Amino acid sequence: MDQVAQIREKIDLVSLISEFIPLKKMGRNYKCPCPFHNEKSPSFVVSPERQIWHCFGCGKGGDVYTFLMEYERLEFPEALRMLAQRAGVTLVNQARSTGLTSQKERLYQCNTLAKEFYHYVLLKHKAGERAREYLHNRGITEAVIKTFMLGFSPSTGTALTQYLLSKKNYTQEEILAAGLAFQRGPRLNDFFRGRLMFPLIDHRDNVVGFSGRILNSDDSTSKYINTRETLIYHKGEHFYGLSVTKDAIRRQNQAIVVEGEFDVISCFENGISNVVAVKGTALTESHVNLLGRFAQKITFCFDGDKAGQDAIKKSLVVVEKKNITPTVIEIPGGKDPDEALKTEPGQFKKAVKEDKGVYDYLLEKTFAEHDMQSAEGKKLISDTLLPYLAVIKNEIIKEHYLRKLSSSLDTSYESIQKELERVTTKSESQSVVVEVPKIKRSKEEILEEYLFALIMQNDMPVHHAHLAVTIMSEVFSQERAYQKLLLQLSSYVDSQAFSPQQFAKSLPQELLASFDTSLLFPLPHFSDNEKVTAEVELKAKELKKIYIDKRLKALVVSIEQKKEAGDEASVNTLSEEYSTLLSHRELS
Ligand code: CTP
Ligand code: MN
Repeated sequence: MDQVAQIREKIDLVSLISEFIPLKKMGRNYKCPCPFHNEKSPSFVVSPERQIWHCFGCGKGGDVYTFLMEYERLEFPEALRMLAQRAGVTLVNQARSTGLTSQKERLYQCNTLAKEFYHYVLLKHKAGERAREYLHNRGITEAVIKTFMLGFSPSTGTALTQYLLSKKNYTQEEILAAGLAFQRGPRLNDFFRGRLMFPLIDHRDNVVGFSGRILNSDDSTSKYINTRETLIYHKGEHFYGLSVTKDAIRRQNQAIVVEGEFDVISCFENGISNVVAVKGTALTESHVNLLGRFAQKITFCFDGDKAGQDAIKKSLVVVEKKNITPTVIEIPGGKDPDEALKTEPGQFKKAVKEDKGVYDYLLEKTFAEHDMQSAEGKKLISDTLLPYLAVIKNEIIKEHYLRKLSSSLDTSYESIQKELERVTTKSESQSVVVEVPKIKRSKEEILEEYLFALIMQNDMPVHHAHLAVTIMSEVFSQERAYQKLLLQLSSYVDSQAFSPQQFAKSLPQELLASFDTSLLFPLPHFSDNEKVTAEVELKAKELKKIYIDKRLKALVVSIEQKKEAGDEASVNTLSEEYSTLLSHRELS
């Protein structure tokens, strides 16, 4: 057995997937809403027997490898490595990975070295003295410096580059690709110089980039600079701090989102550990997808200013889509969390405990900004709020806030609803809704799939298969996958108790995909086996009718053709077949 298969055997798909999303046992299989497309009812199914998964909504499916690749957005070699580690298998050809992965890998390693270099300079080197002092003044302890692996980039301009080139054998191209240097003439210069360094580490502990802060207040240069977008750093997908705080976020089922590095670090020092930073932007869809894996509640803790509110509003649309509860922490004194914790830690901690629903917050803020008495003020308020209230998924919550708006503005609920309709139709025509198209199948295909799934997923599959084949015998053509499967099953003999896994081994390769689908097919629950038998009979008869009708239609065409060709003999046999079929149809 090759290592890929060996690892697949050792890993249990159900427990792997359960670590990312909660699965619910339903009959033979497990189910949940699909993590790869938006949906309300669960069409994502996992078969413990066959160790496969499939989504009946978007059509994605596969095994442990494909799941991890899809979910964690990994290349195959990365997924292989992670699963090998989990299975306790040492890979033989470890070095052989695809071009893209090994390049990413080189960049991660290059960044890791840079992180250690900066960290060393901060803690041990003379050049780091001023930065040590700076951190001390901001109340950051050595333990926290180590937890977040803070560092300092020397101001000489080439220290890191020299280290990576001559001591660690990295090429100029790699250092440039990691965003750690820029080219000036023939030489490379360090991108970060004389800055306090925050390594940006993702939830899988890869160092993807850096952010650097100046030590003095100096208006001639940006307070913070960040690694540019590279092969491995994407601003819109990254959370600062997540590598350190993800376990606390998972435990508390809540992620507090702040704006800056120091906000994360100060919160952490003050015992608020379920926190990450987006670095002064709104949440993107990737952001929400990522956080949604760790917690069901996202709490915004942004500056109280207009920019902070806009960032919350922008983020809301994506949060609603994912069915995550959004709340807000109002920072006392309108400061950032870091400052609030310095000056009034008690009040800030209280505010954290008293996070409020985002919509209550937005209503309050908007009411305070406009004149609630004048017609013009009322219009401004409803224009500001309705686009956000319109996207609330839960109808009860939506109505709650619409009613609150109507009573606060002293306007009828009907007027609010009319305005809401205007807003909704406007936004629908503007934005293109990306819905994964449902796979279109004919009634016949759906019935075949359902019937075989019904037989497979219940007791006595061989007996039921035999029953179905007997019912449909006159029109059973065996040209389709499910017909072939039914026939195979009806004549299947096994010494032991029936096992889908064993049966699958007896099948030709080309039938496996259909077989796997049938094992995962979502079915209603039947209280006893008699009900299953009755359902099998009913569906087999229904299917038989469909087959007959199809054949009848085809016969009409053939008979016409033969008539035109003057082929009397054929016309007769075909007509005979036609009337026999017709009587079968009426009998059943
Ligand atoms: N930021 C950035 N680039 C800038 C300014 C800000 O990337 N030129 C990011 C930083 O992550 C910063 C966050 O946006 O932490 C919020 O900016 P700001 O409120 O200006 O800074 P503070 O977080 O208050 O920074 P500090 O406490 O270090 O002064
Ligand atoms: Mn600050």
